[in-house]
Amino acid sequence: MSVVIPLKKAARARKTRRRKGSSANGTSAGATPRVPSRGSLKKLIDESRRWLAIINAHKLNEYRRRKVVSDTIDNFRLYYNKGYLEYRKSVTEGGQFAAIEWSGRGSVFEDITGRKFIDCLGGYGIYSAGINHPKIVRAVRSQLDRMPLSSQELLDPLRGALAEILGELAPGDLQCCFFINNGTDAVEGAMKLARMYTGKPGFISCIRGFHGKSYGSLSLMGKAEYRAPFEPLLPEVYFVPFNDAEAVDDELNKAEAVGKEIAAVVVEPVQGEAGAYVPDPDYLPRLREICTRHGVLLIADEVQTGLGRTGRMFAVDHWNVAPDIMCLGKALGGGVMPLSAFMSTPEIWKVLEPNPFIHSSTFGGNPLACAAGIAALNVTLEEDLPGQAAAMGEYLLGELRALRKRYPEHLIDVRGLGLLIGMEFVDTDFGYAVAAGLFRRGVLVAGTLLSAKTLRIEPALNIPKALVDEMLDKLEDTLKELTE
Ligand SMILES: Cc1ncc(COP(=O)(O)O)c(C=O)c1O
Repeated sequence: MSVVIPLKKAARARKTRRRKGSSANGTSAGATPRVPSRGSLKKLIDESRRWLAIINAHKLNEYRRRKVVSDTIDNFRLYYNKGYLEYRKSVTEGGQFAAIEWSGRGSVFEDITGRKFIDCLGGYGIYSAGINHPKIVRAVRSQLDRMPLSSQELLDPLRGALAEILGELAPGDLQCCFFINNGTDAVEGAMKLARMYTGKPGFISCIRGFHGKSYGSLSLMGKAEYRAPFEPLLPEVYFVPFNDAEAVDDELNKAEAVGKEIAAVVVEPVQGEAGAYVPDPDYLPRLREICTRHGVLLIADEVQTGLGRTGRMFAVDHWNVAPDIMCLGKALGGGVMPLSAFMSTPEIWKVLEPNPFIHSSTFGGNPLACAAGIAALNVTLEEDLPGQAAAMGEYLLGELRALRKRYPEHLIDVRGLGLLIGMEFVDTDFGYAVAAGLFRRGVLVAGTLLSAKTLRIEPALNIPKALVDEMLDKLEDTLKELTE
């Protein structure tokens, strides 16, 4: 299957030479230093030219498509991380090891061979408006033609406009925004803001909580597997079970008794990566009351749940709770640009004002991302994506619960809110087998990051009912096949 072009052969040979001749500090011990020759630079220029032609091509013929597949496999294996080739269980175990995503629209995408898939993964939550929503693409394209990024020295109107719309939309007194590029960095900023405002170092997080993988956000991670290789992380983070407000109160009482200082409690209103766990109705209101009583901030990580995903604009709206700091990401960029934010109240924001560069980012809140964000919020409001998610979520959860009754020994739980839905299977192998069976039938789903036996259904919030029904048929077919 793999076609290795001469450039890669040369690169591999060079690497072998380096491995043989290099010392620990990377300088060569008598070997040729790694200065690309004129010839190899020419090859790199040709290679980049070849890819530009592919990017710019309207259509690729059969030969070029096959070549893209084999080159991509080679490139992942040699230059990226060959683990990816095996790891994507739904895809690899579905016999589609080499599947290459190529184009898409709405809730359907195509691989490079033209096979169509119903997208029930939604790019792990980024495609709330669907893939390639025309209004969002148009806004980004127009801004791209005018000016893609900014000097950061003059004022950028789109950054202000997006902040205004979000500030008016957000619950409670949340009004001020900082924009950045991914959910992890939104959490990172929220943690810094909480420490800066309170002058306290500690955090309380939830077991099986997921907030990102940089050092600060990873310190809040509630699963050992992802923490262990990087310990010691931030020392003053204490873990409590999700959906247990009493445990938070106890932990804060304990901290006070021994003089530990806690800046904030960080929580996902619905635990996403843990497997779509919805808390009891009094959990968030109780957390709010406990945080206020102890003088501790409440940080809602709405990176996955925000902007309509759970059937309300923000998941905290289900319980009328206003956090002190809120993190957004994923769908905020409309599935077109990376964009995230953390928000807080004018009172808390004051600490960032004397030196606004105390927390800054070169690309955060760039004009392209903000154009995407403004268009994404427009679509979310105009198309009532939260309302659509609520209605379709109710229908889908009902159908999945009926399915669970037909396969009670294999599909052991169905839960979720809006269109953040988890199907928990009896074990990881069965979960993978279902994902693979669905992929073979042209439906993309994937496990949640902290629970591989729980498959997430996280489609676009405007997914047509006909596609949901088709997915349900294919799911039943898959379960039939696996259990017969
Ligand atoms: C609740 C939550 N917070 C933070 C993150 C990290 O976001 P990102 O992967 O964009 O950095 C995620 C990602 O899944 C998430 O679900």
